[in-house]
Amino acid sequence: MSSPRIDLQAALEQIGADVDAAFQSLLSVPVDARSRLYDAMRYAAIGGGKRLRPLLVVAACGLFRVARERALRCGLAVECIHVYSLIHDDLPAMDDDDLRRGKPTLHRAFDEATAILAGDSLHALAFEVLADEATHEDPFVRVELIAELARAAGPAGMAGGQMIDLKAAELELDIPAVTRLQQLKTGALIGWCVEAGAIMGRLPPEGRKSLRGYARDVGLAFQITDDLLDHEGEEGKMGKRAGKDEAAGKQTFVSLLGPERARRQAELLVEQARVHLSGFGEEADLLRAIARFAVERDH
Ligand code: IPE
Ligand code: IPE
Ligand code: MG
Ligand code: MG
Ligand code: MG
Repeated sequence: MSSPRIDLQAALEQIGADVDAAFQSLLSVPVDARSRLYDAMRYAAIGGGKRLRPLLVVAACGLFRVARERALRCGLAVECIHVYSLIHDDLPAMDDDDLRRGKPTLHRAFDEATAILAGDSLHALAFEVLADEATHEDPFVRVELIAELARAAGPAGMAGGQMIDLKAAELELDIPAVTRLQQLKTGALIGWCVEAGAIMGRLPPEGRKSLRGYARDVGLAFQITDDLLDHEGEEGKMGKRAGKDEAAGKQTFVSLLGPERARRQAELLVEQARVHLSGFGEEADLLRAIARFAVERDH
């Protein structure tokens, strides 16, 4: 079932503009030797990417009528972590990529040391944004957002998944192992986006089960699609190189299942994600539309 009331394209454009505006005002460049670091952060963070994570936060917060400007702060925080993870993912020591969001990767446009520091700084900025009273007046809410994001970004989440991913070429991974790798590498941060809505909306933990199910399925479907795009996508549309996973001998759903079964798996996950939302009405239509976009995208 589609969600005719939602104009996802317009929602993506709006969140892109909002995230850009927030980075513009947070990252004004000082007139001292740090200017290169700020320029690098701006280069990586402003004017690119789908902004899918901030949109997910806004959609999840929308279930609980959280004010948009507060939801945007959470969206900005997760985008900071995401951009940092991309900067480091592209470094020569990791995927060694030269193209990101349609332009040279940060270490190519600047240099490796600056790229490392820009990643570090965006990582820190995420928590600074969440810790500010403007995010929520209740410090317990802010601490929960911070603790959950730290968990999702660290060794039990994104960074841990990246570690397994680096080892994936030399390990014999089966489907459950690749599923776990993807859940950590990509799923944990996507999970936080939805959890942030529940935290900001003060939903008690026992009420969060279906939303977590939705996030788990969307996260996995999103990464399977990333792997499919790496296999068969167009660099011009994606704004990043294709064919890197195979060249690096990485094991993905595509290498294990083949592209047809991987695509079918991603589609099944989206259907399942939407079933998790069956207890919600129209207020969840944006989440439903995002689930579809996670697999139908070409970039
Ligand atoms: C790419 O993420 C890296 C993954 C975790 C799959 P996105 O596809 O969301 O990248 P941007 O933000 O749109 O550039
Ligand atoms: C990276 O996964 C996920 C991160 C945590 C950054 P990939 O290495 O597959 O992401 P792309 O394909 O370079 O965007
Ligand atoms: Mg990688
Ligand atoms: Mg990569
Ligand atoms: Mg990839």
